[in-house]
Amino acid sequence: MQCRLNHNDAYITTPIYYVNAVPHIGHLYSSVIADTLRRFYALKNYETSLTTGTDEHGLKIQQAAAKNNTTPIELCDKVSDSFRKLCDKANIQYTTFMRTTEPRHAKAVSHLWNALLNAGYIYKGQHEGWYAISDEAFYPDNQVHKITDEQGNDMMVSTESGQRVEWTMEENYKFKLSDFEQPLLDWIEQNPQVIVPANRKKEVISWIQAGLGDLSISRLRSRLDWGIPVPNDPENHTIYVWLDALTNYITAKGYPDTTEQISAKVHVVGKDILRFHAVYWPAFLMAAGLPLPQQILAHAHWTMGKQKMSKSRGNVADPFEVMETYGVDPVRYYLMRDGGLADDGDYSEDGIKKRYKKDLAGQLGNLLNRSTGESLNPEGKVPAMASIVDSRDKTIHDKLTALPGIFDTHFEEREFNKGIVAIMDMLAEANKHFTDNQPWKLKDQPERRNQVLYYALESCRVAGILLQPVMPTKMDELLSRLGVPENQRSFSDAALSCEMRLLGPSTGVLFPRL
Ligand code: ME8
Ligand code: MG
Repeated sequence: MQCRLNHNDAYITTPIYYVNAVPHIGHLYSSVIADTLRRFYALKNYETSLTTGTDEHGLKIQQAAAKNNTTPIELCDKVSDSFRKLCDKANIQYTTFMRTTEPRHAKAVSHLWNALLNAGYIYKGQHEGWYAISDEAFYPDNQVHKITDEQGNDMMVSTESGQRVEWTMEENYKFKLSDFEQPLLDWIEQNPQVIVPANRKKEVISWIQAGLGDLSISRLRSRLDWGIPVPNDPENHTIYVWLDALTNYITAKGYPDTTEQISAKVHVVGKDILRFHAVYWPAFLMAAGLPLPQQILAHAHWTMGKQKMSKSRGNVADPFEVMETYGVDPVRYYLMRDGGLADDGDYSEDGIKKRYKKDLAGQLGNLLNRSTGESLNPEGKVPAMASIVDSRDKTIHDKLTALPGIFDTHFEEREFNKGIVAIMDMLAEANKHFTDNQPWKLKDQPERRNQVLYYALESCRVAGILLQPVMPTKMDELLSRLGVPENQRSFSDAALSCEMRLLGPSTGVLFPRL
């Protein structure tokens, strides 16, 4: 497989969200991870891009529109817009917002279909099996079971997702997924970081080892007409919505007009859609001779009261409301700090409040206030570096010097919480250094007082640079207050500086009391 990779290119994606329901915190979580990653690579001077958008075809949407007495496209326009508004509100800086109902996308999907067909991976066959409309997914016999609902009716559900399945029997176009067992296993083995975290990678390997059956990739047009027609049989068949949806990642990069730079550095997805991204998607790409993604990051879920947050259960938090109450950046911070990457995290507003008070106002905001305040810093400057006086200076000096590397490693390993904890540890040490040295008693020792101020202000600056991907607006405010010019805010600037600098104007408390 020819895969021309530019190693300085970071193309990041979010899932494209179904338009059957408006966004909740879970959707925001994926988008914040993706946006933070994009900004993290921008900080390291990569060429970056981020795509997000909405998944608008399929039975699920066709049925949701019917239920709401509206046409599918009206429903799509309305709900797609609310996902776009969420991006704007949360400062998700996308370079493309894909809608699968766009003409350029239909062109890309048809082109990919033809590539699979011409390569001999599509055939017409009889399909029988369980289908969950809610997941738009097929399940084998051993992955469904019978339940009795509250009205006493028996029905079959998917064991994995709990969603209702129904028996479908149709003549469908099928994709020779079974040809890709070994190629997929080889790909995962040769690229140890391609599926993270490790628990998810194990899951994928076990699915593949259990055997991959061929995949039905079309539905009869008589049942599903809200979708892209099969190019070689447009009257009778509609392309399976997941083949359609996954293609968005390359439509966004200009496929089929170009196949350069279409490989994602990271596909950020929830664990619920891992199979589609880590099995089907690379198999389609291999079959079409296209470059594979470099990483699939499948995060765990936010629960509320220990149950998966989902519209169908009705236990969802409204992301707009929460950001209105606590501010955009504190919510982004909470999601990145406490979100479950490998294991589910339980969402609560108390959790947000706690992080706000302890970490943001208590550590970062506090240190900034103390070290920039008129009483201790009457000249409004960041003093130049002086020599280390005692072991306490050495402790904070060494912590500060080591932090960028530690942070970088954790973020590269997608252990965002650890990267953030490292920053907060450093800030706790810096606050302690400040308190212990009692700079308010050092009026007659200006040199020593300056050295204490230096460490406090440098701690704020280094933390501020590194936290920009997580809290872009607040860290911009902080760095401006510290007088850091905009062209000195990249990762390489997170090293200790030696020169004196003037502070910027005060714009009030960074993290005011809630
Ligand atoms: O699956 N916790 O769309 P979707 C964390 N259209 N993340 C959550 C979450 C939760 N409780 N609930 C949802 C689809 N998510 C398809 C995707 S991609 C080519 C097509 C996030 O609207 C998580 O990323 O059901 C999950 O995978 C995604 O939203 C599902 O969104
Ligand atoms: Mg879903």
